[in-house]
Amino acid sequence: MSPAAKTRIAILISGRGSNMASVMAAAQAPDYPAEIALVLSNRPEAGGLAHAAAAGIETRAVDHKRFRDRASFDAALQAELDAAGIELVVLAGFMRIFSAPFVEAWTGRMINIHPSLLPLFRGVHTHEQALRAGVRLHGCTVHFVVPELDAGPIIAQAAVPVLPGDDPDSLAARILVQEHRIYPAALALVASGHARLDGDRVVFADDVRVPEGSLHSL
Ligand code: GAR
Repeated sequence: MSPAAKTRIAILISGRGSNMASVMAAAQAPDYPAEIALVLSNRPEAGGLAHAAAAGIETRAVDHKRFRDRASFDAALQAELDAAGIELVVLAGFMRIFSAPFVEAWTGRMINIHPSLLPLFRGVHTHEQALRAGVRLHGCTVHFVVPELDAGPIIAQAAVPVLPGDDPDSLAARILVQEHRIYPAALALVASGHARLDGDRVVFADDVRVPEGSLHSL
């Protein structure tokens, strides 16, 4: 019997790509439901590009500074995604905001990881925002992307304690461990069809088991 076809994904990065690397590691498993067909960055110098290329993954740099506006940059991205036959877009520290038509073209087929427990602390400097607000739990969220920034339906979350003496770096490091755990798992749910967008909600297959009584949803 031939194995089920894997979902062709593109991972979009702007920096070091540690979340990309966690997906690369997970995708080594023969039964992982996604294959990384492309890694793309808006910054040619992004460290993650070299890491992906060294592993034999197709990479592209589409430098946003070479485009006169957001729409033309998004059109260039779309052309790369089309050429590679991409079915699902995975944002992993991709720090550009898309135009609404681009996002709408990928409705239900584009996911993001954000370093806070959404809907708290959208945008940037989330760890500073959390420390300023004095929350005692902070974390990360995987969500479908919608035109409004960091507002899409939530697929998975993980929480960590905010400890006395934490600074933005110590909090970021504690949360990154959880990002690397939940992103490959949430991506697998979407790629396999076990989690899908239905209007403004995420619908899960009956056999998806959420660990009760824990601080994470996967
Ligand atoms: C991660 O913490 C990710 O959650 C965050 O950027 C970092 C990228 O690190 N993303 C955002 O802030 C998106 N708005 P990485 O390049 O090592 O994966």
